[in-house]
Amino acid sequence: MTDIFDFDERPKYYAVMGNPVAHSRSPQIHQLFAEQFGIRLEYAAIQVDVGGFAQAVSNFEARGGCGLNITVPFKTQAWRLADECTARADLARAVNTLTLQRDAPRRGDNTDGIGLVRDITANLACPVQGKRILLVGAGGAAQGVLGPLLDEAPAHVWIANRTVDRAESLAKRHAASGSVTGCGFAVLAGHQFDIVVNATSASLSGSLPPLPDCLFADGALAYDMMYADTPTPFVEWAHTRGAARAADGFGMLVEQAAESFNIWHARFPNTQPVIAALRPRGV
Ligand code: ATR
Repeated sequence: MTDIFDFDERPKYYAVMGNPVAHSRSPQIHQLFAEQFGIRLEYAAIQVDVGGFAQAVSNFEARGGCGLNITVPFKTQAWRLADECTARADLARAVNTLTLQRDAPRRGDNTDGIGLVRDITANLACPVQGKRILLVGAGGAAQGVLGPLLDEAPAHVWIANRTVDRAESLAKRHAASGSVTGCGFAVLAGHQFDIVVNATSASLSGSLPPLPDCLFADGALAYDMMYADTPTPFVEWAHTRGAARAADGFGMLVEQAAESFNIWHARFPNTQPVIAALRPRGV
């Protein structure tokens, strides 16, 4: 008897890998995107041991997995595991989107920066062009977004970090892409910015980077790349320090997912209804 089971009819399989990953919204986001186009897919959240990332990717490929989103703490490892990467992923030295195909190179991309830029410029209607930007932090999160921010032609980007040489070397690496300086927190006193982006992991521990009080220019936007079910410490702090508006990173999460979805399915989803449906109620 012929086997009539056609493997091509099975939904394609995707996942997000991270640690921790249990609370990831990516499975819901990708399912809602897929519904917009009548695409059937499976999308799982896979918790990976800190030393087990390369093996987990191989296992996923062996199961026929087509694409992975990568979150903390594996984005740098994912960049190293990719056989070929886009220029923006190479500049970030971090990959959040892996495209996998049997007998083809593993392709890495980084959609975090474009996700942040779309949330700020489209969803929050705040152009970056010509603005004075303060990027707080110089770790993986900051690295992922600096290139796309500079592509928007801001007046200048200051990167302020607790460990100053990390900020300086990140600025140096991007010097060809725009006007950018690395510095510590102390030199920020007396300066004002139009957009302040918190890319530190301080919110994770409920703390704040040591920023001076009078940081926000008239009409300034404060943006925390973290998001939570309640306003983050940085968002609360920004409201009390004169920011005209403060947003968390939930919109960025949906926008980076939309860009990943487009890489995998060659269709760009409508992000507005997904943000509206999934945004935590308390924010
Ligand atoms: P991620 O990939 O989330 O960016 P990371 O590479 O560990 O994680 O970087 C964390 C960033 O948050 C760094 O810029 C770190 O500053 P240092 O480079 O000086 O370590 C910053 N950070 C974390 N906690 C902070 C705090 N309480 N105050 C100020 N900066 C903090």
